[in-house]
Amino acid sequence: MDKNKERLLALCLMAALFLVGAVCYAAYSQEEPNRILLDFGGGQGKVMFGHYEHFEDFDVACIDCHHTAEDELSEMQKCGDCHLKKMPKGDPCVARKDAFHNQCIGCHEDIGMDLACGDCHKK
Ligand code: HEC
Ligand code: HEC
Ligand code: HEC
Ligand code: HEC
Repeated sequence: MDKNKERLLALCLMAALFLVGAVCYAAYSQEEPNRILLDFGGGQGKVMFGHYEHFEDFDVACIDCHHTAEDELSEMQKCGDCHLKKMPKGDPCVARKDAFHNQCIGCHEDIGMDLACGDCHKK
């Protein structure tokens, strides 16, 4: 093969690989929301959760919260997909309210931070 053909072939390969990469990226990338409104009723008021703030400013790792995800590139599920409002007795997967409270308040307690109900819940 002469040099020009080799070069053309290399360029075609590069273009093909780039396309494959772009398509995969588009198929797998899932936007992580900056702020998330968590509101299941219950009378205490809704919670506007600073998602971005937590992983970007406070340096909390994705999988410290998304504890069933393999890594930060995994598809992230909603907590309530598994933690239902009511769980069957004896299920190790706690109910939704406890899942949120144990994770959010648990971590804050670990770092000596004591938030009032109204610091998270807004009417
Ligand atoms: C401090 C805890 C915490 C950290 C850290 C965190 N997340 Fe989340 N994330 C949540 C909560 C809570 C939700 C809302 C889940 C729900 O609606 O049930 C959420 C929602 C999401 C969603 C939307 C899921 C959906 O289907 O609505 C994506 C995507 C996501 N997170 C990705 C990430 C990525 C990527 C990182 C790391 C860069 C990350 N998260 C770090 C707690 C966290
Ligand atoms: C794919 C299902 C699934 C998803 C999604 C999920 N969990 Fe869990 N979670 C479980 C199961 C099962 C357990 C019990 C076994 C274990 O600890 O892994 C658990 C345990 C927990 C515990 C410890 C239980 C305790 O006694 O305090 C907390 C806290 C928790 N989850 C919070 C969350 C939060 C918050 C989210 C969303 C950011 C979430 N989970 C997403 C399935 C899930
Ligand atoms: C793994 C640790 C961790 C988890 C889980 C976590 N947080 Fe935090 N949170 C932090 C840290 C660190 C700070 C910042 C402390 C500081 O300002 O020094 C913080 C601060 C906050 C603040 C104070 C407001 C602000 O912007 O300064 C609120 C409100 C809050 N978190 C809500 C939540 C909610 C709601 C959840 C659950 C959905 C949650 N956090 C889960 C670590 C965590
Ligand atoms: C660190 C933040 C945080 C603090 C502090 C907090 N909560 Fe929550 N709470 C949440 C999140 C997040 C949820 C899940 C989203 C929702 O239901 O609005 C929740 C859910 C609830 C629910 C259940 C709603 C449902 O039906 O699923 C009740 C009730 C509740 N909280 C009451 C309280 C009370 C009372 C206090 C104070 C003693 C308190 N919370 C303190 C974050 C917090």
